[in-house]
Amino acid sequence: MPAELMVRAGEKEYPVLVGKGTYEEAVPGIMRRLKPACVSVVSHPALQEMHGGALEKAIIEGLPSSGRIIWFTFPEGEENKTLVTVMAGYRFLLEKGFTREDLVLAFGGGVVGDLAGFLAATYMRGVRYLQLPTTLMSMVDSSIGGKTGVDLPEGKNIVGCFHHPEAVIADVSVLATLPGREVLNGLAEVAKYGFLYDPEILREMEGWPEGRPGGEYDFAPLVRRCAAHKARVVGEDERDLRGIRALLNYGHTFGHALEAALGYRMLRHGEAVALGMIMASRLAEWSGLARTPLVERHLRVLLPLLREVPRPLNISSREILRFMEADKKKGQALRFVLLKDWQSPVLVESLASDLVEEAVQESLRDLSEGE
Ligand code: GLY
Repeated sequence: MPAELMVRAGEKEYPVLVGKGTYEEAVPGIMRRLKPACVSVVSHPALQEMHGGALEKAIIEGLPSSGRIIWFTFPEGEENKTLVTVMAGYRFLLEKGFTREDLVLAFGGGVVGDLAGFLAATYMRGVRYLQLPTTLMSMVDSSIGGKTGVDLPEGKNIVGCFHHPEAVIADVSVLATLPGREVLNGLAEVAKYGFLYDPEILREMEGWPEGRPGGEYDFAPLVRRCAAHKARVVGEDERDLRGIRALLNYGHTFGHALEAALGYRMLRHGEAVALGMIMASRLAEWSGLARTPLVERHLRVLLPLLREVPRPLNISSREILRFMEADKKKGQALRFVLLKDWQSPVLVESLASDLVEEAVQESLRDLSEGE
């Protein structure tokens, strides 16, 4: 039986199951408990082709004989995380006679999880759903905590709501089929938990030859450890209003500006966050906030995760600053999560923009000189 941890968010409580073979072990029992007549799996075509058979087998085992599985798939890519895709989803569910007693199953990475969660939150005023994350990034972060939503041309996750799943089921065996760069992308979020909360995670990452785990590596303990941090933080600040959940945005103020400035090409989200954490470590040191040197260790842990980023990035620190300023104009305070020390994060506002720009510039230089 896979290890189990619970997310407690307000009235809602749900398990996060992490292990190898969790679909076969956990999905039939959850189906028997929730008793949907119809399960709509929201996913991408390639995932359906690769893992759909095994997943359907596990779902069918727990469904009554009259139960149905319907697949709603859409092409990969953040550019499809839109209301247009959600609208197609509503129409698909209606056409198939999907009711409020039925169940949505988000089977994919962060884009699928956010979109399927939003579809489930809003179809007929809300139906139940499960998160089955298939990327390292979504296993350790986005599948837990009930943030759902879609993007507008004006920005990411502008439309959305909180809607928690009935369970999160992470089967780490699917990570074996993940492209190498996608694993590195997820490891940036893993490192984030290390810097924010967990020295063990950093020690483990520093012990990996060439900064990444070997081919036979069992991700289950690491994913479980990160998921436990996420579950705890969500329990303490479900709605992201108390400045606790906001700390999970370590590296994200820089990271979002980098992604936007590059038109969401060249850098994956985790890579942008990794570079953003390097920038944040510089800012913490240079602003005098950090009580200990931070930059060198950030570079040691994070630069290996950026090895597949195309160089040069062809972007200037000025442009990145412009994107940060644009966020500020939209009413979003320019807040940085910075470390006072290892595992000692704080939220900081109003820093001198020339210091911020220098931190960006120096870190872009690290990237172009790095491996
Ligand atoms: N990914 C950050 C959060 O869930 O709050």
